[in-house]
Amino acid sequence: MKIAVIGTGYVGLVTAVGLAEFGHNVIGTDKMADKIEKISRGEIPIYEPGLEVLLKSSLKKGNLAFSADVNETIQASDIIFVCVGTPQGDDGSADMSQIEEVSRFIAENLNGYKVVVEKSTVPVKTSSWIKRTISLYKKSDMDFDVASNPEFLREGSAVSDFLNPDRIIIGVETERARDILVKIYERAKDRLLITNIDTAELIKHASNSFLAMKISYINLMANLCEKTDANIEQVAKGMGLDPRIGSLFLKAGLGFGGSCFPKDLKALIKIGEDLGVNMNLLKETDRINAERARIFLEKIKKALWILKDKRIAVLGLAFKPDTDDIREGPSIRLITDLLDEGAVLRLYDPEAQNNMKELFPEDKARITYCRTPYEAAAGVNALLICTEWREFFELDLKKIKGLMANPIIVDGRNIYNPDDVRKIGFEYYSVGRK
Ligand code: UGA
Repeated sequence: MKIAVIGTGYVGLVTAVGLAEFGHNVIGTDKMADKIEKISRGEIPIYEPGLEVLLKSSLKKGNLAFSADVNETIQASDIIFVCVGTPQGDDGSADMSQIEEVSRFIAENLNGYKVVVEKSTVPVKTSSWIKRTISLYKKSDMDFDVASNPEFLREGSAVSDFLNPDRIIIGVETERARDILVKIYERAKDRLLITNIDTAELIKHASNSFLAMKISYINLMANLCEKTDANIEQVAKGMGLDPRIGSLFLKAGLGFGGSCFPKDLKALIKIGEDLGVNMNLLKETDRINAERARIFLEKIKKALWILKDKRIAVLGLAFKPDTDDIREGPSIRLITDLLDEGAVLRLYDPEAQNNMKELFPEDKARITYCRTPYEAAAGVNALLICTEWREFFELDLKKIKGLMANPIIVDGRNIYNPDDVRKIGFEYYSVGRK
């Protein structure tokens, strides 16, 4: 069986490489010819640990190829994984125009039975639209099936998440499609959950929104801790010891960002409201997250009072460690707010600087991008931690203190032990703990 993967964004590229690693014959395709050319040479357009090595090895083995000819790729394949973007539309709903376009391409190139697999995160009921679109535009009477196989990989650990998933959800409505997908994932057959398509689609949105809710919940508790003598890390630890709650995704901080949680939460709210379901629980989750940046800014003001012309170092621009992705990252809101207040910024991130420069270009008077955290700390009135990159845990804080004009750290990710940093002589503010 030949597999096509349409779309070479985060999910598409990892899916193509991962399915090739499972031993299948895969062709990845994308309209963006320059991107395809780069990937075909073994270069990845994103920073994702381990991905480039696997890409190169499958290209060399010969069971993975890339083509900018979407039509030809569809014709040559039996199974088509649809991995195009479903970005947020103006009203919060997912913009499905790329999925619709791909459905038409598939219809026009339907030269035999094919299984069309939704891999991108899509609203429940999308498969009905895909089916309708293919039926409307197909030129042959060839048969096809639509299936849902949502992806649960995380940026930064995408390769291992794909190759060793906790679960593989397969939403199907025919035996034929089911047998094909079960075969594709034979290597992980102990982790398969087979459902109908609506269920599979909803599992993805429900999972992301639940995790987002867990994060907003712990951030709400952090707000309470800040008004009392409670310590959020111990609260999270105590809660997490209950296996019904679990310890993961209980880290309080600047809130959730990235290309998934904020968008998927809003999309699910819209889906629910369109169906007449009260979605206030998730609206609150979103609201709590939106206020994280303001609460962090208040802490910076508590330390520095007036921010105009204050020199401030920001360590960490990516929305989370091990990625160069800044989309919906708390650092964007923070930098915007600090610039509005008239602060002078020294920014550092090991991987995300180039992406951030596109949003906030270097500007001698206001924004300097630095090559190391130490360079960023030079002469600043305060240092902010925005992303918990491993290297920030290991900084020589005595050296940092010596470089700064005022030894003040505002830590949005709770990466340091308050007693340790205070012993060095820092004034230290963090989240939900004294
Ligand atoms: C998320 C899901 O975890 C994946 O399962 C899913 O496949 C993916 O979205 C997607 O839909 O494509 P990702 O956005 O890569 O993955 O990142 P996460 O590791 O889930 O982190 C999301 C955000 O939550 C980050 O901003 C992170 O800083 C924040 N977070 C996470 C917290 O603030 N506290 C925590 O305890 C955990």
